[in-house]
Amino acid sequence: MSKDPEFGLNNLPGTARWVMSPWVSYMNKLLAKLRSPVDIKKRFNHREDMVSLEQIGNFELLITDLIDRDVQGDFVELGCYSGSTSAVFGSLLHRLAPERRFLVYDRFDMELGSTRNIRSQFEQRMKDCGLPMPIVHEGDLFALLPAQLPASIAFAHIDLGTGGGVYQHAELLVHSLKHVYPRLSSGAILILMDYHVPDVTIHGNDSNPAVRLVADTFFEDKPEKMRVLYGGPCSHAYIRKN
Ligand SMILES: C[S@@+](CC[C@H](N)C(=O)[O-])C[C@H]1O[C@@H](n2cnc3c(N)ncnc32)[C@H](O)[C@@H]1O
Repeated sequence: MSKDPEFGLNNLPGTARWVMSPWVSYMNKLLAKLRSPVDIKKRFNHREDMVSLEQIGNFELLITDLIDRDVQGDFVELGCYSGSTSAVFGSLLHRLAPERRFLVYDRFDMELGSTRNIRSQFEQRMKDCGLPMPIVHEGDLFALLPAQLPASIAFAHIDLGTGGGVYQHAELLVHSLKHVYPRLSSGAILILMDYHVPDVTIHGNDSNPAVRLVADTFFEDKPEKMRVLYGGPCSHAYIRKN
């Protein structure tokens, strides 16, 4: 069982910005009275917002389950940027399994939205959330992997899309999967951000088409197959290692 009975989506970093203002709540009540079939909600900004509320919920379920099953190994994130998703993983680990190591990897020099000084923003976010600093590996993944990966991984999140060239992204994903997959322990969870299947992910977005291209090919001869999750305005999918 999880250690913290108070734990829940509302306590996770990043959820507060999706809370509706009183004005929006009022407008939605008014729209309902007028029998409008639609609500007003905050628009997801794919350049500035790195994770959706629905994805945060999926992370919580998968990670809580992983810890309950006592799947062995460290937590890793390839592509941590300014820490939106790392803060969620760090927060879950801090509460459920503080003894586990959390390692993050990024070049920290790719500016995707309005964020500058990316590594210091990452560190500030961890501090603001009251979280211990993960082990940070700064550099290019082609140089860092496999040497800087832990021997045993319980949870991996791969989020390396920058909206750039499909071919370069694909090469990076192949390199990452080739080294992460064999280190996943039995029962480990690997989540691929931006894995998108039109119509299946419903409201998702095909931000980085290389993800599905590479993953489907990579898992063709493996026992695991990608399982698509509902992520609201963002797409993602996972495997559980056999
Ligand atoms: C979409 S962002 C990750 C978002 C992050 N998960 C978050 O929630 O804020 C993609 C990241 O991949 C990183 N990246 C892309 N190519 C890389 C490479 N070759 N080596 C290391 N990091 C890379 C970029 O620096 C960028 O920070």
